[in-house]
Amino acid sequence: MCGIMGYLGPKDAVEVVLGGLECLEYRGYDSAGIALAEGRKIGISKCVGSVANLKAQLEKNPLSGKLGIGHTRWATHGGVTRENAHPHVDADGKVVLIHNGIIENFHELGEEFSKKGARFASETDTEIVAFLISSLYEDDPLLAIREACARLRGSFAFVILFANISDRYYCVRKGPPLVLGTAEGEAFCASDVTALLPYTRNILFMEDDEIAELSAEGVALYGFDGTPKETRTQTVDWDASMTSKGMYPHFMLKEIEEQGSILRRTLTGRVGGAGEEGIDLGKEFPFSEEDARKFRRIHLVACGTSCHAAAVAGRLADKFADMDVRVEAASEYRYGNVICDAHTLAIFVSQSGETADTLAAARQARARGARCLAVTNAVNSSLAREVGSVLELRAGPEIGVAATKTFIGQLAALTLLVLWLGKRKGNLDREKELRLTEELARLPLKLEKILGQGESLRKMAERHKDAFGFLFIGRGASHAIGMEGALKLKEISYVHAEAHAAGEMKHGPIAILDVRLPVVAVVPKDDLYEKTLSNIQEARARSAPIIAIASEGDEDIRRFSDDCFFIPRTENELTPFLTVVPLQLFAYHLASLLGKEIDRPRNLAKSVTVE
Ligand code: M6R
Repeated sequence: MCGIMGYLGPKDAVEVVLGGLECLEYRGYDSAGIALAEGRKIGISKCVGSVANLKAQLEKNPLSGKLGIGHTRWATHGGVTRENAHPHVDADGKVVLIHNGIIENFHELGEEFSKKGARFASETDTEIVAFLISSLYEDDPLLAIREACARLRGSFAFVILFANISDRYYCVRKGPPLVLGTAEGEAFCASDVTALLPYTRNILFMEDDEIAELSAEGVALYGFDGTPKETRTQTVDWDASMTSKGMYPHFMLKEIEEQGSILRRTLTGRVGGAGEEGIDLGKEFPFSEEDARKFRRIHLVACGTSCHAAAVAGRLADKFADMDVRVEAASEYRYGNVICDAHTLAIFVSQSGETADTLAAARQARARGARCLAVTNAVNSSLAREVGSVLELRAGPEIGVAATKTFIGQLAALTLLVLWLGKRKGNLDREKELRLTEELARLPLKLEKILGQGESLRKMAERHKDAFGFLFIGRGASHAIGMEGALKLKEISYVHAEAHAAGEMKHGPIAILDVRLPVVAVVPKDDLYEKTLSNIQEARARSAPIIAIASEGDEDIRRFSDDCFFIPRTENELTPFLTVVPLQLFAYHLASLLGKEIDRPRNLAKSVTVE
């Protein structure tokens, strides 16, 4: 959470930092702030709310400089106030700092400084760090930072300015992500590579326990013990156009509409079609055929939308992998007494690769001896490094807080993985493998057919925009899709939505049904179709309007529903790729009709790096 941006170079630092913060606003938008080194003075401007508010404030009271750092906050310690907004500064104005993460011993340190007479301006866990560094600083900034880090507990990414130094600034990473960028005479830092793409593709992904000194000459990297480290700059293959909305009103809509091409990209080179090898996960895939045969357990662990993709994959694994399958939210898995060993394949699914609970869960599984794999869109993320082996989503940067295109990428990567295992386990014959892989290759076109019907989903949302809430039902993988549909709706429209396994409805949720609470039934024509149809009728008998997401050619469903959306026919195991798309669009249009801030839903941040 929280977005960080820093710049030193010949350009106007205010412009670069504000541009970066706008790009990073998906990480938090409770408040925003900027600090500019102007000679031996540091000017600070901060405010509650979005970067737009900060911009307006700077128009009235401008700052300027060639070295600047900025922050957009997702509040943890201390309310949403101007005082709690970053940057923070020590009492003498020597050290100015921005922070992403949590300082666990801030209270203890605060008391120590209070006894010496310090007075704090904020309620944050950050301000004390500026005091601490300042108290340790004589003439060696690196030494002061190192000594301060040794006294801190928790997780932190800091960017630090010293008032008497205007040609360098400092970055520290222990936990939350921080990436550095360089260009001729310029040095950038940001929480996420997307903010740097308009300026450079020469990127250095900081690792934990590193301190960087950034100047016009480039980056010097040190360990927390002061040892100089080699700078590992690499060229990233994402470009700035991937992070712009283009002609779309919202990133979320752009990203929904990209899903056909994302699916093609995720499958490219991994699905051989009629070739000798149907599915080829390539050299990046760390498991041999022999490993696969020995696996006895498969754990699929993730949070939020990624966990819903894991749940879809779990259903597929039940069918094909012939293993004990466990799908669990990372925030639960990490505290459970999970049995894993060398015959356990533990898969951690995360768009960002930075989710704190998923990281902690992966650490635990590794410590217990499981063979681990990260399924992520961020190959340089903390999760990728923790786990060592990565199946990449190839979805490109996702900016909308509500995940959409990465969900499709996750479904594709996980489906390939489970089918690959199924084949090695002897549960997927050649004929079925070919049927599925050939259909996978056809899915992008079918998905694009659904995208072409956005207007009918907009009208459907219009008809239901005054509903009191929504109940999503489905069975098997369609239950997981119902959960994803409900999550999307809640996240961006703030309308109450809950999802249940269709067969569970009569064990309680049915009590809330009435004419103001539509039931969204995910009911493709699969093995469980008739069972779900019975549940639809139970809901209908309680006067709930029925919205059905059904398969093309299913005329019966019209009789039992008030609103239908038809997905193209596909293999039973692959329906989630298609049923989720109308639910994403329904949520998008409903939120839009209700006038919500779609790309920046309240209280949320794109990557949840706190526990
Ligand atoms: O980056 P991750 O995939 O690990 O993130 C997990 C969740 O925080 C994320 O999916 C969240 O639920 C999204 N806002 C969903 O739209």
